[in-house]
Amino acid sequence: MTRRLKIAVVVVLGLAALTAVAYAVVTRTTRSWAERDLELRAQLAVTSARRGLSRAWRADDREALADVLADVTRDIRIMGAAACSPTGSSVATTESYPPSLPCSRLASRIPRSALGDATSLEPLHETTDIHGGSVHLSALPFRDGSSMLGFVVLVHDLSFVARRETAARTLLLAAFVVLAIAGAFLTWLAGRMARRDWTRELRRVLAGEEDRPEYAPLLRDVRELVSRMVVESDADATGGRWTPERLRAVMHQRMHGERLIVLANREPYVHQRDASGALTVLHPASGLVTALEPVMRACSGVWVAHGSGSADRETTDTSNRVRVPPGEESFLLRRVWLGEEQEQGYYYGFANEGLWPLCHLAHTRPTFRSDDWQHYRAVNRRFAEAVAEESDCDDPIVLVQDYHFALVPRMLREILPRATILSFWHIPWPNAERFGICPFREEILEGLLGSSILGFHTRQHCGNFLDSVDAYLESRVNRAEQTVVQHARETLVRPYPISIEWPPRLGPAVPSPTECRARVLDELRLPADALIGVGVDRLDYTKGIEERLLAVERLLEREPPLVGRFTFVQLAAPSRTRISRYRELDERVEALVTRINERFASGTYRAVVYLREHHEPDTVQRYYRAADVCYVSSLHDGMNLVAKEFVAARDDERGVLVLSHFTGAARELTEALIVNPYDIEEASGALSLALRMPSSEQALRIRAMRELLAELNVYRWAGRMLLDAERLRRRERLTGRISTSWQALAVER
Ligand code: F6P
Repeated sequence: MTRRLKIAVVVVLGLAALTAVAYAVVTRTTRSWAERDLELRAQLAVTSARRGLSRAWRADDREALADVLADVTRDIRIMGAAACSPTGSSVATTESYPPSLPCSRLASRIPRSALGDATSLEPLHETTDIHGGSVHLSALPFRDGSSMLGFVVLVHDLSFVARRETAARTLLLAAFVVLAIAGAFLTWLAGRMARRDWTRELRRVLAGEEDRPEYAPLLRDVRELVSRMVVESDADATGGRWTPERLRAVMHQRMHGERLIVLANREPYVHQRDASGALTVLHPASGLVTALEPVMRACSGVWVAHGSGSADRETTDTSNRVRVPPGEESFLLRRVWLGEEQEQGYYYGFANEGLWPLCHLAHTRPTFRSDDWQHYRAVNRRFAEAVAEESDCDDPIVLVQDYHFALVPRMLREILPRATILSFWHIPWPNAERFGICPFREEILEGLLGSSILGFHTRQHCGNFLDSVDAYLESRVNRAEQTVVQHARETLVRPYPISIEWPPRLGPAVPSPTECRARVLDELRLPADALIGVGVDRLDYTKGIEERLLAVERLLEREPPLVGRFTFVQLAAPSRTRISRYRELDERVEALVTRINERFASGTYRAVVYLREHHEPDTVQRYYRAADVCYVSSLHDGMNLVAKEFVAARDDERGVLVLSHFTGAARELTEALIVNPYDIEEASGALSLALRMPSSEQALRIRAMRELLAELNVYRWAGRMLLDAERLRRRERLTGRISTSWQALAVER
């Protein structure tokens, strides 16, 4: 039932109740008025006939008395009259007097004492039924001087009262019908007019022709609904999946084709001169690059990064820009140059000896040096300025990536107050207590709160961040809305789990899994029935490489038949080698590999093949596709895209993923064998299970994970952030307009 129909029904029912009450009141009033009227008339009739009555009664002339009574009944409403003696015998009656009301019956109704005492006589008036009709009778004591002669009875016909009641009922019913129709019509008309005025006003406000602050919440809801509908219709058109095309469409339609600016320390393409002097392009081992590069290819725009390659300068133009990817050239890479000292303090020092161990629970003590901090601040400012230089409007959309640039959001906001700044923290955020050990904690938090949206991989990291803000900053934290307000600016804090491109870009150059396996067997001189395990990492202490190798050792210990048959290949890209902790790890891994290999040595067999060098994506793909098992053993990891890349590479639905519980990926890839990497027994057991897993079960698990990755791909990661940003931009524009119009109003007043 519509709301207006409900109102109309209520109005009609209300009118019906009113009519019923009115009918009861009118009926009762009509009847009592009529009875009162009859009593007076009876009194009047007897008084006017008094002389004739007295004379005839005294003379006991019954005929004359009957004539006088007949005169009294000339009034058409008097049906009959009678003169009765005080004892109740009939003295005279008119012809029409009803015999069912004899004097004797009436006399008994009047108290005898009253009849005997002339001074205390009371008239009797009552309504009674005779022959199915209603009559009113008045028995009026009649005296002559002081002597009581008897009483005169007048009987009135009451049918006229019933007629009046019927007329009143009909009238009321007609009034009810008219009022009900009029009421319903007026309700409908009022509703329609109100809606027309309201929609007209709303349309004007929506079209931006009018600013009405009171409509702001409604407008927000309407716009959000429309956005959702548009996204849903986009989703329908693409089977609900995010694709590069859909992301591009969002940029064009929803962001009006604005240029996306990505700021990340690591560049997606590093130009190098090799030993022979030839120019090469390197793809760095970086989850961030794996994720962001496809987004930039889809959206185009500009990626601002540290130019770290030996041939970077010679490959950029005079504005320090180069079009990439080589041969495709779909976006711009803007390189920022750093001096040796700057790089040491900002990248190696504060970012990787301070923030990195601070945020990862991997038992490496963070080192905070104030010199490093000064470099970190200076380099952050340098990058904020570079981003501003790349911006072609005063409200650009900037994606600030990772812990290298915690201060950039606020610095950039100082330069471009209207910018939409989306920051994403690719590593875990520690709990507030742990974060509190950073001597520069307030400045870091304030820096990040310059963002419009701040993203983490998981809800837990968002919660840790909000706790840290709560603990160390003067600000308003709204946990339900997941927002922080500081200096009258709001930052949304949201989980956006990062992912990889889908469909995976294996490219025609990547051979089939069978070919990959054949090639790997050949490269490593392994027998055809060899079982291959693989690990792919930067050489970083957070990746649990030592624990992984210990699990391999334990596996061979537990299952001697695997010795000579199972080989674990560790691809390790040297990383941050200027930091002593990384050099130490390097040495320890090297030593561990040697020890394990010596322990299980037999002929040319090596239990662990350690490939310590940078590997280009096609090599990594080859190993993913050749492996029986891939083990990701991070001690702590924001997401870990190696796990996702392995699943994506296995379009043959073979291979098993063993995955550390302490990665963000473990929350999504639940069909992997999830292990605690510190628990060597458990991890080696999982490796054993993986190597014995029937191919049908492998297929089931990989298929389920591939379906998930197809859904939760990196285009969705970027798309969700951009759509949230777009909603914010619209809201801010609207709020801007509203506050401008309020200001204008205030000035007018
Ligand atoms: O995991 C954090 C992270 O910054 C990634 O975003 C990136 O993939 C990786 O570290 C690479 O580190 P770097 O740039 O120091 O080689």
